[in-house]
Amino acid sequence: MRLHLNENTAGCSPAVMKVLAALGRHEAGVYPDYDEARAAVARLLGVTPAHVLLTNGLDEGILAVTALAFRDRRGGVPEGLGVTPAFDMYETLVTAFGGRMATVAMGAGFAFPGDALRRATTEATRIVFVTNPHNPSGVIVDRPDLLDLAGAIAPVLLFVDEAYIDFGGDTVADERWFAERPNLVVGRTFSKAYGLAGLRAGALVGHPDTLEPMRRIVPPYSLNAWAAAALPAAAADSAYRDWYVDQAAESRRRLTAMCGRLGVETWPSAGNFILARVGVQAPAVVAALGARGIRIRDRSAESGCEGCIRITAGLVEETDRLIPAFEEVLCAVR
Ligand SMILES: Cc1ncc(COP(=O)(O)O)c(C=O)c1O
Repeated sequence: MRLHLNENTAGCSPAVMKVLAALGRHEAGVYPDYDEARAAVARLLGVTPAHVLLTNGLDEGILAVTALAFRDRRGGVPEGLGVTPAFDMYETLVTAFGGRMATVAMGAGFAFPGDALRRATTEATRIVFVTNPHNPSGVIVDRPDLLDLAGAIAPVLLFVDEAYIDFGGDTVADERWFAERPNLVVGRTFSKAYGLAGLRAGALVGHPDTLEPMRRIVPPYSLNAWAAAALPAAAADSAYRDWYVDQAAESRRRLTAMCGRLGVETWPSAGNFILARVGVQAPAVVAALGARGIRIRDRSAESGCEGCIRITAGLVEETDRLIPAFEEVLCAVR
C-alpha cells in the first residue's frame, strides 16, 4: 500500500481511461495541442483561459514561478521565504536557481504565521511560498489571511500552493483577487483528487500579465498528449472526484479516531493525509510497516514535526487494512 506520497489510491476516473484508450499512433506522433485542456481547466476553476498556464505537474509550476521570481537579481542573492515544516520542492528549487531559502516556524498547532511572514519579508525576498491546506499537517489557512499577506508583501510574489484544496479549504484562485493582487499566483494539481500523478498535469492560475513571462519559462510542449487528453475528461467527471474526496474524508476520520485510541496526537487535517506524532519510535514504526508492505512517510527529522509520521488517507478499504497493522506495530515498538 502506497500511503507515503498522498497519491489518489484509487487511480484516475474510468472516464479518463476511456479517452486514453482511444489515443493511438497519430497522437503519439504529433505535438500536442492544449486549447481544449486549458479551456477545461479554466472552466473547472471558474476563470478565463488567459488566467491558466498548464504545467507538467505542479512541480513544474513551482519551478516556473521560482524562475520568474529569481530573474530579479538586484541587491545580491535573492531569497525565497516559506514556513517550516513545508513541502520540500520550494527550498530545492530556490537553491537550484542560486537563491537562499528563509523560513519562519508555523505557529502552535500549525497555525498560519501570517504576521511573521510579513515581518520576515525583506528587500532580498522575491517570493513567499504558502501551502493551503498545509502539508504536512493538513491544517487550513484562512482565505482573508492569504489575501492580506498578498497585499502586504506586493510586489513580492505570493505563491499559494493549493495541491490539496479539492479535499478542503477555500481557494484564492479568483479573477477578482488576481486583478487586485497581480503578485498572487496559485498552483493546482491533478495528481491528488483527480488521480493523474503518473500522467503529470498541473496548472498555475493568476493574472494574465503575471503568467505571461512564465509562458516562456515552461517549455511549449510540457504536457504530453496523454496528459492533455486526460484533463478535459478528468475535469468533467466531478462525480468521481467527489466520491474520492468522500473516501479520503472518511479515511481521515478513521485514522484520527485510531490515533485518539492509541494516545497519538493529530491535528485537524483538510488534506488527503494526516500527520501523527508517534514520538521517538517514528522511524521504527515506518520501517515495521514497510516490512509489511505498507509505506507511510517519516517526517520526524524535520523541524516542527519532530516524532511525526504522515499517512495518506485514501480508499476506506485500504485504511481499514492499515489500522490493525498500525495498532500492532505501534504497540510492539512502544
Ligand atoms: C504541496 C504540494 N505541492 C505540489 C506537489 C506536486 O504535485 P505534482 O504531482 O502535481 O507535481 C505536491 C505533491 O505531493 C505537494 O504535496
